[in-house]
Amino acid sequence: MPLAVLVSGGGSNLQSILDKIDAGSLDAEVRLVVSNKPDAYGLERARARGIATWSRPHTDFGSREAFDAEMVRVIGEHGVRAGAGAVVLAGFMRMLTPGFLHAFPGAVVNIHPALLPSFPGTHGAADAEHYGVRLAGCSVHFVDEIMDHGPVIIQAAVPVLPGEGADALAARILTLEHCIYPQALAWLAAGRLHIDGRRVLVADAAP
Ligand code: GRF
Repeated sequence: MPLAVLVSGGGSNLQSILDKIDAGSLDAEVRLVVSNKPDAYGLERARARGIATWSRPHTDFGSREAFDAEMVRVIGEHGVRAGAGAVVLAGFMRMLTPGFLHAFPGAVVNIHPALLPSFPGTHGAADAEHYGVRLAGCSVHFVDEIMDHGPVIIQAAVPVLPGEGADALAARILTLEHCIYPQALAWLAAGRLHIDGRRVLVADAAP
């Protein structure tokens, strides 16, 4: 399955996806890594492996729609389009427009460092820690037009350790993200995910 991975930062989730592809446990190919931050370290990870990259500050564009339309065009040039492949948000810190989402129906996924629907937004892990929850975690979900809202594919939970603080909790959650994102993508690549309203059904593997 061809993938376009969108990053704004360090790209450790991108790295975990690449590692699982290398290990043979994810049948996918990262065709392109896209960023709105030309200095995102995730782009370096891609270049180091000879993966194509595209990066432009979103502020270069006159509107959100114009930036997204250009991303759709470039992603399509690399073989990810409606019915072919998926768009993987891996720390991409921008909301996508309806026009972008309509270009890849049922094929845009995101990872969020909280147990949705709790703590959507840009600081999910810290918000959970500050709230005082006993269980925290992460969620992979299909993307819709509302932030951190689309149907959930997989979640993983960790206990919050007394006094550990938000940074340590976020780091432990990130380790879990590196497990569940490749798993969700492996299901998607195998055609095993079916959206049924808010629910995502994971079909049995073919015998
Ligand atoms: C992760 O915590 C992810 O859940 C959130 O942004 C962070 C990205 O980390 N959406 P990285 O760039 O993959 O290291």
